[in-house]
Amino acid sequence: GKQIKLKEVEGTLLQPATVDNWSQIQSFEAKPDDLLICTYPKAGTTWIQEIVDMIEQNGDVEKCQRAIIQHRHPFIEWARPPQPSARNAKDCMVSYYHFQRMNHMLPDPGTWEEYFETFINGKVVWGSWFDHVKGWWEMKDRYQILFLFYEDIKRDPKHEIRKVMQFMGKNLDETVLDKIVQETSFEKMKENPMTNRSTVSKSIMDHSISSFMRKGELWGLENHFTVAQNERFDEIYRKKMEGTSINFCMEL
Ligand code: A3P
Repeated sequence: GKQIKLKEVEGTLLQPATVDNWSQIQSFEAKPDDLLICTYPKAGTTWIQEIVDMIEQNGDVEKCQRAIIQHRHPFIEWARPPQPSARNAKDCMVSYYHFQRMNHMLPDPGTWEEYFETFINGKVVWGSWFDHVKGWWEMKDRYQILFLFYEDIKRDPKHEIRKVMQFMGKNLDETVLDKIVQETSFEKMKENPMTNRSTVSKSIMDHSISSFMRKGELWGLENHFTVAQNERFDEIYRKKMEGTSINFCMEL
């Protein structure tokens, strides 16, 4: 197994490098026209980043090829200087499990059974899915926030991309929108070295264990959960999400 020691800050597990940058992260001040993407890990961060950049560049593919996505949208935790996007808990858990297998900067997830406990208890980097999603959901009407669902983008990408465009105060032609839909499809982004993380060193991400762009699918198409685990998950979900009105549509 990997020897990764996570650190806890205010009850949330983080990677040591993030903790080193903590004071800088806390003193970050957004400028009025900054756009922050606030996704839970594996909720489709890269996807929405590419969509936002494609809109920003008016659908110009070459401009979006200028650098890898991590440089076009720097992570705040890397402290080079809100738009939350949510993906349902079960798919995040499956995706995060495989990501921890292939990412050498993250702890070994252990067996699926072990990971189940780790995930529901929020003992993963960046903390609990439940806290993240509930927190942003409660915040969304108080600030200028566009709350997006991975499942909705999957179901009707053009409709959701148009919402992002309007949120960004842009007005692009239908043909440009159609192009952005095509260019940000799973198939295209999986082949695109600027978005698929293939340029990351093998000592950090090992795509032969599991690729970064793995399946990009909705719940039900993968069979990780046993019937008993699924029932237990639903029970925990009901308790933890009690009182919130958020609703994930899990079907295409
Ligand atoms: P899977 O592991 O289920 O395939 P993040 O960018 O937050 O780390 O999220 C990664 C997840 O988003 C992966 O999920 C990846 O395949 C999926 N993803 C990335 N781009 C996508 C796209 N264009 N369409 C659908 N899913 C996408």
